[in-house]
Amino acid sequence: MDTQALKDSWHLVSRSGDQVPLYFYSVLFLMNPDVRDMFPVSMARQRDKLVGALGKVISNVDRIEEVVPVLQQLGRDHRKFAVNSTHYPAVGQALLATLEHFLGDRWTPALAHDWTQAYNLVAQVMIDAANDSSKVSPPWWEAEILSHEMRTLGIAVIRARLNYQYPFRPGQSASISYAMRPRVWRFYSFANAPRQDNTIDLHVRMVDGGVLSSALVMGARRGEMLRVGAAVGERLTLTADVQGDLLMIAGGTGLAPLKGLVEQIAYEGPTRRVDLVVGARHSRDLYDYEALAKMAAEHPWLNVVPVVSHDPFYRGTRGYAVDVALQGWRGQHVYVCGSEEMAQATVGRLLDAGVPTEQIHFDEFTSDKGRES
Ligand code: HEM
Repeated sequence: MDTQALKDSWHLVSRSGDQVPLYFYSVLFLMNPDVRDMFPVSMARQRDKLVGALGKVISNVDRIEEVVPVLQQLGRDHRKFAVNSTHYPAVGQALLATLEHFLGDRWTPALAHDWTQAYNLVAQVMIDAANDSSKVSPPWWEAEILSHEMRTLGIAVIRARLNYQYPFRPGQSASISYAMRPRVWRFYSFANAPRQDNTIDLHVRMVDGGVLSSALVMGARRGEMLRVGAAVGERLTLTADVQGDLLMIAGGTGLAPLKGLVEQIAYEGPTRRVDLVVGARHSRDLYDYEALAKMAAEHPWLNVVPVVSHDPFYRGTRGYAVDVALQGWRGQHVYVCGSEEMAQATVGRLLDAGVPTEQIHFDEFTSDKGRES
């Protein structure tokens, strides 16, 4: 398989921007009207989710060994859309038709053969994982909202109870949907470690134009139901190779998965010191400070440092979380979570300051597009 040709051709196709998903979905829905119902009612903001991912994943098929675990999670997670193995050929067909349309003369039989093989390879990993998981877990879980607290104007902390046992590790996230916005799914991190009573905490920030986040923050009420997909994500979990003290840097609701890790350490019995630096633009954005201060008072191994960047009247530490964090870096592993912008800037600063790459843990997905918190 000529993987360079796959990459080059995808690069060419992507130059047509929004026209690409527009064409893809027209072909897909025209040829398979039954799959239309799997997608959000309004596709206006959605067009890019599947098509961009398809091109990126498939044209990087030479790294398939590396991405198998991610594809398996994706395959398992696709069960929440009611996708089954019979739908894969339809998506493959629409993808090939799209490539052919945008590549014109450059679409050769050899290229068509390679794209087909690459798609089938990726699809099979997803299908196998979905089939395996269907024997042991449901396509999604239902969760009843037990409490909904508005912490600031645009941030709500929601506690919900899952209808049955839900396996996840602290630091992971799951896609969530809410009956008021049918078929719209967005990823949120759990702000807790697994609990006996099957409850989860979500920190939801209302994002400009975010259809799900605004409904969850402004509309969701106690007693209503959420749907929760299978837990995904590895990068922010505590793996066996991460030994010793930890330094955590949170921006906004990126605090959620880091709080989950702190809970895990508390449950497991503290064997390490944790410095958690929580950054916010204004003091009013420190939406979970009370809870964090309580945890710090209970656990001597936990040090919580709130840092505010854009509030000249703030009496505590002012500046950027990463600068304050670096003052306390003594060789610990560093966990980072926040908006895409914050995570990128923070990781850049850490690298510049000499923190080794393998000691920096951040989740592109957690602080990336496709998510509303
Ligand atoms: C190789 C095959 C595939 C890959 C790599 C892939 C990848 C992805 C990714 C990364 C996303 C965004 C993450 C998410 O929202 O959970 C996504 C969304 C989605 N995929 Fe797939 N997918 C594949 C096949 C399929 C198939 C066969 C269907 C069924 C028709 C499907 C239906 C969907 C739907 C409904 C969404 C949500 C779209 C939205 O909300 O705008 N996918 N896919």
